[in-house]
Amino acid sequence: GLGLMGHGIAQISAAAGFRTVGVDLNADVLANGQHAIETSVAKLNARKASKQEGFDDKAATEETLARLTYASSVDAVAQCDLIVEAIVEDAAVKEKFYADLGARAKPEAIFASNTSSLAVAPMALASKRPDRFVGLHYFNPVQLMKLCEVVATPKADDHVLELVDGWATLTGKVTVRCKDTPGFVVNRLLVPNLAAAIAMAERGDAAIQDIDAAMCLGAGHPMGPLQLADYVGLDTCLSILAGWCDQYPTEPAFFVPPSLMAK
Ligand code: 3HC
Repeated sequence: GLGLMGHGIAQISAAAGFRTVGVDLNADVLANGQHAIETSVAKLNARKASKQEGFDDKAATEETLARLTYASSVDAVAQCDLIVEAIVEDAAVKEKFYADLGARAKPEAIFASNTSSLAVAPMALASKRPDRFVGLHYFNPVQLMKLCEVVATPKADDHVLELVDGWATLTGKVTVRCKDTPGFVVNRLLVPNLAAAIAMAERGDAAIQDIDAAMCLGAGHPMGPLQLADYVGLDTCLSILAGWCDQYPTEPAFFVPPSLMAK
């Protein structure tokens, strides 16, 4: 997928020197993803040139973009060593996708899902290569956020985890390891916080702008929780929270604020 997360992942891979194929079945998303990559690579290199004398940003941009190819068929990844999936957050769609991918990719290829809230193990099982399957969770905007969570299911091979962790590090990320638990580290702590902020605004405890200002200035967050919920996407927040409420009805931290449900 070459949407919000996928285009960023493809970009940092190419920028780090890896030949990269960006795939999306939807022609518009593919074109928008390619455009977003081209704009972002040029912008980041221009910024680097302004700070680093002698850095040729035009040449660097050309080099990065030359490592990227684009395709609208999954067959284009047949020869890839690592396949990072960032498609729709729907367990049934992902499992079907992995059953198909397992049959098309080369046997030694490693699969990594950028799922933000789904269990990794069922996808790993569907791919028929659970030892070569990990979670690789990035943060929006991928190009600027420094973290990548590396998620291990009980069946993941230690050597595969090392390889993927090493790759993510080469693409400029700091990695943390985590078990295959709901939301991993960041979303487990962050998304309920966004829900609590939405509920606070719904109750009228404080104005939206004041809640955001309070968390920026009083807790040192770069964005307030309501701005961040928009930035992540209210659809994504809803799908994460609704999925958790279904699966873990007794966990009090998981709830869907009514106004989010109305979306
Ligand atoms: N590529 C290139 N440049 C980009 C960019 C991109 N994709 N996105 C933004 N920029 C640029 C901006 O255009 C701006 O350029 P300028 O200086 O020329 O105007 C520059 O980066 C910095 O932007 P800001 O001035 O807005 O500066 P900030 O210091 O506020 O940084 C931020 C922006 C990094 C987004 C910061 O606000 C931040 O950290 N926000 C919180 C983001 C966050 O929490 N993300 C995680 C969400 S959870 C998630 O993704 C998980 C998922 O599973 C739900």
